[in-house]
Amino acid sequence: MIAQPRELFSEEKVNKKISEMAVNILYQNIGIRELNFITVLDGGRMLAEMLQNRIRIANKFVDINNYSIKLESYSGKESTGLVKIKKDLESSIEDKEIIIVEDIVDTGGTMNFLINYLKNQKKARSIKLASLVSKPDRRLPEYRNIKIDYLGFEVPDKFIVGCGMDYDGKFRELNYIGIID
Ligand code: IMP
Ligand code: MG
Repeated sequence: MIAQPRELFSEEKVNKKISEMAVNILYQNIGIRELNFITVLDGGRMLAEMLQNRIRIANKFVDINNYSIKLESYSGKESTGLVKIKKDLESSIEDKEIIIVEDIVDTGGTMNFLINYLKNQKKARSIKLASLVSKPDRRLPEYRNIKIDYLGFEVPDKFIVGCGMDYDGKFRELNYIGIID
């Protein structure tokens, strides 16, 4: 049996932080009429919904396009960063300015793959990254240059759940961020 997660950031803290991220996205994109989000499924879905709700309330004039992609990362023993696309984007993002929405950046392998894929194969004009959580201590040296433009929380090198993040399919729907000890 898995122990219940220990609370790291309360629901209230998470809500407040996501509101700040939404304000930041609007502020950094003043004058832009269209925001193009690519949600990384399944983990990024909760953050994407919460950000978009807040952005819609704050600015009724910005169009939100929501794309999604489902990835599978084989961490393996050596954490090779091998990533497979399980469900690709359904429409073109060519020449668009993209904001990726992810739950957590760990080694950085998944984001490195996705950023290169969107740039080189899908011809995105520009790519920014929003992630609820980052585990900087786990970043592989070759991925240290990955920039998280809109970040919620930095966490220690522990297994994190809630707000989209799961442990074997569990705890994804929690409204707080917790640690599995
Ligand atoms: P990376 O490629 O090592 O950066 O890992 C990226 C993916 O691994 C994330 O998008 C998550 O789906 C998963 N992941 C990494 N660390 C955690 C964690 O602490 N909790 C839940 N999922 C995690
Ligand atoms: Mg993820």
